[in-house]
Amino acid sequence: MRVDLLTLFPEAVRGPLEASILRRAVGKGLLEVRIWDLRSFGLGRHRITDDTPFGGGGGMVLRPEPVYEAVDAITRQGGRGRILLFTPQGRPFDQVAARRLSRREHLVLVCGHYEGFDERIRALADEEVSIGDYVLTGGELPALVVLDAVTRLVPGVIGPAAAEDSFAEGILEWPQYTRPREYRGMAVPEVLLSGDHGRIRLWRRREALRRTAERRPDLLESRELNAEDRKLLQETQRRP
Ligand code: ADE
Repeated sequence: MRVDLLTLFPEAVRGPLEASILRRAVGKGLLEVRIWDLRSFGLGRHRITDDTPFGGGGGMVLRPEPVYEAVDAITRQGGRGRILLFTPQGRPFDQVAARRLSRREHLVLVCGHYEGFDERIRALADEEVSIGDYVLTGGELPALVVLDAVTRLVPGVIGPAAAEDSFAEGILEWPQYTRPREYRGMAVPEVLLSGDHGRIRLWRRREALRRTAERRPDLLESRELNAEDRKLLQETQRRP
């Protein structure tokens, strides 16, 4: 997958690309990220990228030219890709969107400006994306969030079992334990040590459902449970 990331703050996005899974994906040639400094498309000797809003009011607004010209430069390098614009007014990002975007060959991530951007920039975007109902200082963190969630779904980046965690299916993860068997009085549930794979599977499913019902009942309301899940969920109401 190729990703072009347009930002006024290239240094804000470099760090996460040099660590962990993103770095590994780049190393394996599964992900290629190009960072474009919008300032280099700025106007005049001072490389101006923002200006005061028409109609008055405070603050500065990102001008359209740097973004359009950066997209032109990307297009000249071959293909335009799917252009995402980050804004709290966008469509809420979720695992379904991550999976859909992970099937794209080429994404262009446009980071907004902390005081807003010229409305004409929206015309460039195929999608406007929000990562939640709060306001950040810019689109850099949202772009990294989306890039991270999408990259881990690109085949070969992590194992298919890890990529397909239960959230992909719309419920929360079950509790996980590793050594030691007991730590500061907290013991690993006996069933996980039993070697009985049938019992372990049912326990995990039951705990995943219990956790989802307790913490995110909205996730259960929007889906149809099969007979086994309904029974397991009932069991969680009987036994604490
Ligand atoms: N830019 C500022 N806040 C944002 C958010 N919550 N999602 C996407 N882009 C943003």
